[in-house]
Amino acid sequence: MGDHFFSADPQSADVRRTVEARIWGKPYVFTTATGVFSRDRLDIGTAVLLRETEPPKQAGTFLDLGCGYGPIACALAVEVPKATVWAVDVNNRALELTGVNAAAAGVAERVHAALPDDVPGDVLFDQIWSNPAIHIGKPELHKMLLRWLTRLAPGGVAWFVVGKNLGGDSLQRWLTEQGYPCERIGSAKGFRVLRATNAAPAPS
Ligand SMILES: C[S@@+](CC[C@H](N)C(=O)[O-])C[C@H]1O[C@@H](n2cnc3c(N)ncnc32)[C@H](O)[C@@H]1O
Repeated sequence: MGDHFFSADPQSADVRRTVEARIWGKPYVFTTATGVFSRDRLDIGTAVLLRETEPPKQAGTFLDLGCGYGPIACALAVEVPKATVWAVDVNNRALELTGVNAAAAGVAERVHAALPDDVPGDVLFDQIWSNPAIHIGKPELHKMLLRWLTRLAPGGVAWFVVGKNLGGDSLQRWLTEQGYPCERIGSAKGFRVLRATNAAPAPS
């Protein structure tokens, strides 16, 4: 496989630059690099997700699944002062950049950038946020989503953005079939914004 942004360790030179973005009304300057998803600007899908949603109102433990250079994770931690955010990716350069960006945003202590296997097994998530890696193919995508959705706390919520032509509507149906009732809460620029919930009752 070539040196794609989802390589574990991109072989390309680590050429850094900064990108500016406004998320939930606040300005950010993110450091990005070659070998990382959407290094030239905040991805349009991610921008749609953040425009169509509001930040969580309550503190909790959140997951940014497929964090890239960390725009979603950083914004969640900035908006929710007592939140703990796990930012997960398979790309080590992305994880390093997430650390840099969390530090720049003043939230390094609460943003944990980690490989999937390095997240402690007992952590449950009150919310999952993701612009998921569709390119890994449907079987892998489903496997990845179930791996983390099974760790969504009872009553927890998962937010996704997926291109319509990349299967946004079928993903909505699939999530519902898996026991995570899913509704489309927004649609813009060819992207669907989905909200799925963990309908399972809390253990008594
Ligand atoms: C569409 S990008 C979104 C990046 C970032 N959230 C953003 O909005 O710019 C998806 C990310 O998922 C990562 N990824 C691919 N396979 C993964 C897996 N199995 N587990 C976690 N992350 C994965 C990729 O490396 C990539 O950074």
